[in-house]
Amino acid sequence: MNFNEIHIMQKDLGNYRRSYEKSALDEATIKENPLEQFQLWFYQVEASQGIDEPNAMTVSTLGLDGFPKSRVVLLKKFTHEGFIFFTNYNSEKGRAIAAHPQVCLSFYWPNLERQVIIKGRAEKLAANLSDGYFESRPTGSQLGAMVSPQSEVVASRDELEKALSALEERSRGKALERPAHWGGYLVRPVSLEFWQGRPNRLHDRIRYALEGDLSWRVERLAP
Ligand SMILES: Cc1cc2nc3c(=O)[nH]c(=O)nc-3n(C[C@H](O)[C@H](O)[C@H](O)COP(=O)(O)O)c2cc1C
Repeated sequence: MNFNEIHIMQKDLGNYRRSYEKSALDEATIKENPLEQFQLWFYQVEASQGIDEPNAMTVSTLGLDGFPKSRVVLLKKFTHEGFIFFTNYNSEKGRAIAAHPQVCLSFYWPNLERQVIIKGRAEKLAANLSDGYFESRPTGSQLGAMVSPQSEVVASRDELEKALSALEERSRGKALERPAHWGGYLVRPVSLEFWQGRPNRLHDRIRYALEGDLSWRVERLAP
């Protein structure tokens, strides 16, 4: 079919329907610590080999224009402190986070019928940790991060490619240093919601909410 020849701007998706039956989430057996629960689910998604990039997550920010904005980035590390991703600090998301550190991270792993939604506060990762990750990246990715004014309007692709070639030329044989405008964010979670699809739309939803600095309140939410 030639998709360019479809002229009617309408499509009804009402018949897309699926029953979720793979698993369940039970207060009696979930981990006390939500980061450990996340780790367990992450390992299970990895082991399922059903997702190309299980670490692809949606990051939503509160924009300076008052609109929320979501985009996909790659989770690069999680620890007992939280979730780490890397980006350009001057990008649209970087500027949004500087004004409003509250962000939402979400994962959808359709093959296991699971979703995780995390609210937290983003802070810049310690410079030495960003340096370490930058050094570990392939040269091409380092150059790309250095040369791209992420989220700025550019005149053409050609302009970017010329800038990349020029930088490649100048830096040949030299070790590349992390530019100050590029680095990691650590998102310290305040709430984590685990969603497991169930039959008849009676899905399981368990939310952990931070109480004080250390303890987590666990609640079941209606689907
Ligand atoms: C699968 C996937 C992975 C991505 N990973 C990253 C990433 O790790 N860091 C990043 O800055 N952008 C990543 N991007 C690009 C972002 O979605 C986005 O275009 C970019 O960060 C600029 O967003 P902003 O203008 O809202 O700041 C990724 C996109 C996709 C589709």
